[in-house]
Amino acid sequence: MANAERTQSPHKLSQGTKSTCLLFFRLLFFAVFQVAQANKQAFIQSDTILEVLHFGERGLLQTESDIDISSYHQKSPPLHRGNCRPIRFEPPMLDFHEQPVGMPKMEKVFLHNPSPEEISLISISATTAHFHASFFQNRIIPPGGNTSFDVVFLARVVGNVENTLFINTSHHGVFTYQVFGVGIPNPYRLRPFIGARVPVNSSFSPLINIHNPHSEPLQVVEMYSSGGDLHLELPTGQQGGTRKLWEIPPFETKGVMRASFSSRDADNHTAFIRIKTNASDEDEFIILPMEVEVTAAPGIYSSIEMLDFGTLRSQDRPKHLNLHLLNSGTKDVPITSIRPTPSNDAVSIEFKQITLKAGENKYTKVASISFDASKVKRPSQTSGKITVKAKEKSYSKLEIPYQTEVLEGYLGFDHTVTLFHIRDSPPDPQERPIVLTNTFNFPILIHDVSLPEEAKTMFKVSVCARMCTL
Ligand SMILES: *[C@@H]1O[C@H](CO)[C@@H](O)[C@H](O)[C@H]1NC(C)=O
Ligand SMILES: *[C@@H]1O[C@H](CO)[C@@H](O)[C@H](O)[C@H]1NC(C)=O
Ligand SMILES: *[C@@H]1O[C@H](CO)[C@@H](O)[C@H](O)[C@H]1NC(C)=O
Ligand SMILES: *[C@@H]1O[C@H](CO)[C@@H](O)[C@H](O)[C@H]1NC(C)=O
Ligand SMILES: *[C@@H]1O[C@H](CO)[C@@H](O)[C@H](O)[C@H]1NC(C)=O
Repeated sequence: MANAERTQSPHKLSQGTKSTCLLFFRLLFFAVFQVAQANKQAFIQSDTILEVLHFGERGLLQTESDIDISSYHQKSPPLHRGNCRPIRFEPPMLDFHEQPVGMPKMEKVFLHNPSPEEISLISISATTAHFHASFFQNRIIPPGGNTSFDVVFLARVVGNVENTLFINTSHHGVFTYQVFGVGIPNPYRLRPFIGARVPVNSSFSPLINIHNPHSEPLQVVEMYSSGGDLHLELPTGQQGGTRKLWEIPPFETKGVMRASFSSRDADNHTAFIRIKTNASDEDEFIILPMEVEVTAAPGIYSSIEMLDFGTLRSQDRPKHLNLHLLNSGTKDVPITSIRPTPSNDAVSIEFKQITLKAGENKYTKVASISFDASKVKRPSQTSGKITVKAKEKSYSKLEIPYQTEVLEGYLGFDHTVTLFHIRDSPPDPQERPIVLTNTFNFPILIHDVSLPEEAKTMFKVSVCARMCTL
């Protein structure tokens, strides 16, 4: 499994003949994936730069071209409306229905030209990052002819998203095309990394935790970054190959890789992490966008963009996460308070006043934030923000969102069944059936029953003939 060993992808830059013809188009900011095709490509386009990223041989994500098209401008013809649309779309609109967050789905859209004139297409643009469109297969549609483009739905959040794609032509104005989709939770409990803010030269390094929802082990077979300022590293302390590290036992969650983004360019950056497991089909990938704002503004920064408490059961003990902060300014700054907004009984914060030294280019543990799922009374308590106040007026306010999913319920059993009475003489073995009651509002699969080491000398678990779903 050579692919699994490769953790960093090179970032190759070259000028191709293919790219020069695109010089004549003005491109709005949008990103495109063509994930399900033999020649896998992703385009990242902006006002000034067009990059064609290839998911090339062995799945490497490479930059093929990088051209400046900012000098090109053209007058926009009026918007086309009413019945006089010379272009017919097939399908008339696109509904992606439900797709897990981070798992792209691609559909093809045909454009038919029933008019007697040829239509010259300039660009496709979307106004949200959830949808990505490829360039047209053919830029010119002859009279009575057709062309096509691909639309990829890559949900970044749970919930409904809809968007209008704008298709710009040279002489026939702008056409609109509606796309819809619903983001549902990722089965591997993965999420995009959106909204991180870091100072120039310091890094944003989240751990990528993958949950295995299957009853057999899950093997991560490849993991790539879009390169540039984003690298993938083995989690600290890990030695040797990734095969064992990347095998996730049934129903468990494991940190498989650390993504590390660091840049000296103060700008908004977008990068991607692509993951493939042996549970997915040939052309199926998980793609996690990472958006990082790198800034030169002096201030207090957090090492993580989100305090993610993960999935908790209502009877779990409180879960703790540490908050690490950094002061990028030139003066020492006291941190005066750290509070949840709005206030939340389920969140408690252990914090002692601390002064963050200037120029200490590293993150310092400042607080421990705990989430107690047993104190959740309303769904609104499962997310919010942690507000950090610093004694420095020129710094902007620091707010770190937090979230958790709380599963209401427990597995109940009769506690008297597990009490055994021992007399002076060694007792005859006693066998007791234990009946579990599921009070969650979904089925629970019991896949293992085990004893703590110290109980193994006295007890034995004999499991009923088949594992049961409660
Ligand atoms: C359509 O393309 C022209 C030429 O590139 C551009 O000036 C105009 O702003 C575009 N219109 C829209 C709505 O994208
Ligand atoms: C598109 O046009 C080609 C010929 O120009 C034709 O063979 C094909 O069937 C058309 N596709 C659709 C979806 O109409
Ligand atoms: C960032 O690092 C580069 C190279 O290591 C250095 O030239 C630059 O001055 C640094 N910028 C800041 C703001 O520290
Ligand atoms: C994935 O790989 C693991 C570990 O090698 C294996 O146990 C499991 O059966 C594989 N799953 C599939 C669907 O092939
Ligand atoms: C980056 O994005 C943020 C939020 O959208 C915006 O406030 C900021 O001005 C942007 N920075 C740059 C350099 O474009």
